[in-house]
Amino acid sequence: MKSKILCLAIAATCSVASFAIVPQPVSVQRNDGAFVIKPSTTISYTDESIRPLVVYLLDYVPVKHVSKAPVEENVIAIGIDPKLQAEEYRLLVEGKRIEITGGDYGGVFNGIQTLFQLMPSEVYTRSGRLPITVSCCLIEDRPQFAYRGFMLDVARTWMNMDKVKHYIDILSYHKINKLHFHLTDDEGWRIEIKSHPELTQIGAYRGGSSLIDAVYGKWGERYGGYFTQQQLRELIDYARVRNIEIIPEIDLPGHSRAFARIHPEILCDNPPEFERRNNYERRSAWCATKESNYELVDDVLKEVCELFPSKHIHVGGDEVALSQWKNCPHCMAYMKRHGYTDAHKLEDYFMARVEKILEKYGKTPAVWNEAVNGGDLSLGTRVHGWENVEECIKATTKGYETVVMPGKYFYFDMRQSPYEDGHNWAAIFDTEDCYSFDFAKSGFTEEQMKKVAGVEATFFSELYIAHTPEKLDYIEYMTFPRMCAVSEIAWGKNGGDWSEFYDRLKGKHYDRMASMDIHFRLNPPTVKYEDGELTATVDDNSIIYYAVENENSSTRYVRPIKTDKPAQYVFWSEYRTATSPRTAVPEHYATLKPAMKITSSMTDNEAVFNRANEYRGTAFIHEVCKNGDWILFEFDKPVNCREIEFITGYAHIPKFIFNSGYLETSTDGVTFERVAVLHAGRAKLVNPTQIKAARIVSTCDGNGTYLVVVTPPVIKPILQ
Ligand code: ACM
Ligand code: ZN
Repeated sequence: MKSKILCLAIAATCSVASFAIVPQPVSVQRNDGAFVIKPSTTISYTDESIRPLVVYLLDYVPVKHVSKAPVEENVIAIGIDPKLQAEEYRLLVEGKRIEITGGDYGGVFNGIQTLFQLMPSEVYTRSGRLPITVSCCLIEDRPQFAYRGFMLDVARTWMNMDKVKHYIDILSYHKINKLHFHLTDDEGWRIEIKSHPELTQIGAYRGGSSLIDAVYGKWGERYGGYFTQQQLRELIDYARVRNIEIIPEIDLPGHSRAFARIHPEILCDNPPEFERRNNYERRSAWCATKESNYELVDDVLKEVCELFPSKHIHVGGDEVALSQWKNCPHCMAYMKRHGYTDAHKLEDYFMARVEKILEKYGKTPAVWNEAVNGGDLSLGTRVHGWENVEECIKATTKGYETVVMPGKYFYFDMRQSPYEDGHNWAAIFDTEDCYSFDFAKSGFTEEQMKKVAGVEATFFSELYIAHTPEKLDYIEYMTFPRMCAVSEIAWGKNGGDWSEFYDRLKGKHYDRMASMDIHFRLNPPTVKYEDGELTATVDDNSIIYYAVENENSSTRYVRPIKTDKPAQYVFWSEYRTATSPRTAVPEHYATLKPAMKITSSMTDNEAVFNRANEYRGTAFIHEVCKNGDWILFEFDKPVNCREIEFITGYAHIPKFIFNSGYLETSTDGVTFERVAVLHAGRAKLVNPTQIKAARIVSTCDGNGTYLVVVTPPVIKPILQ
């Protein structure tokens, strides 16, 4: 079947390119003529089950008439043909009528999405403007994968109903059909459980006076929110109309610190020194052997199963801190009784118990790949392979239906180029890298492919919260157009031709995304410096701007800039709702590493600071900061530079920081002057002179965690 799909796609390449449909259909035949949708056009439908799609369509194409009886002319006729497969559709545009026939509801929905892409992009604004002209064509299309997903983490950064609905809209425009909803984690519990109202009353909020410690920003305030069951029903319905199934995740038995703060009895009976570190409860795993824990899990899952119609309920299974079990008398005794030598067996046991609970409520588990390292979960389990390709392949080989989502290609919290925001633990990758994912080149055999349910991209939101106010701009920038690439892979393009895809993106899809109100990312301009002139070029229709570093300016770039200091210019481009990252010549990013010594009131262990002193990495202070605690940076020689930034916490994550404090500097190493307050644990000085020493002083008692991290200062040289 795959080779047939390929032939049709190649045969139709020319027409396909001119329509620039994303994801690219299996077969497109462009014909002469056009159909004009007017106010007088009728939408007809054959089947009550697709009536919601009439209502949906009218929102975008507000014609005046709807009919259940057949209409011959001036009609958009939608219907079901059971001979077509699930989600398959046939879209025929003729001079007198448009016909969308789907194998099922999803097929009709997919056909409608393709029809939208044949229209001017304004259709997505729902402005109600008619007439709309659609070129005649015949499109026959079906997805390769039944699972085309996206995971949204609302536990770290809370997102309200409107934001989630907007997200469902923009995913559905790309024929994504699964929303994996990460509703619980260490930092928050976001789903109402009626039998345990405390879970949201307490667990949905962190920071300020909350029981749940602040982490990842909003340090001084109580932060959070949750979905009531009524709201979740509304979201389920909203998504269902848009052919998206919501699969909830209750992350067990790890990632449960928020739950454990409310119900500490779920934790292991660890020795006192293990229980708390610097008075901070870090433990996050349910004890695997307390029988009462399974009763509590049952209470929660019963309601989750009743609420969500999805066959699968995601129950986590990732990143369990096994040391908690290894230091628990009950867990150790259980292992001994059963002859286990590996604590992973306890996870197998826990997850198997959870599976039994789900079974009772007619559901099947979905889990992260670690949960099937052992072998206790039944083969009905769906595995989400996130760690790497090998784990995905392993899961398919064991016979599990597998959702392929290795972080290196599918984790959209990864940054897209070295100096942008975002994580980098899996990779730094942009849309082109993402598009390059190829099952065959990754080592999947035909046999293993039979077990691939599909692909999923994800956005874990611990860095999103740092983008206050948390508008959707950041998540959209991180997600699109990478999500367009994933939608193509999910639909069936494997190892596609990047330049052909990029032409489709730039050609029409950028305008569509702008009309969808997506704040997507553009490729950065290419910046060159030659013969005293700086030039910037882009490979799309965006407009280039530049600014002089640290000046609050923005100037449209129209011609090369003559300068002897190219490194001070920063360029970016914009197109409607989209923007590129900022970029500059390589010298802009050069840093100084003058000899220095770091000490702190919080530790007398200077070895702790060696890595930071030598600019090799971060230093860890295993103490909790108190008001007045300090970190002192003493330079061997006074530093003059164009910029210096002092950082507590990791360079990209506002975590383990001085939540509040100030920076003072000294030109003689003796007398200090207060020069800045800390924002997200850091402070930057522009054009400072003769810095002999600098001191970060805490004004907070505690930072919600058990340690403080120090990252070496970033020092940019004066431009000659
Ligand atoms: C995960 O990223 N811990 C699934
Ligand atoms: Zn235990």
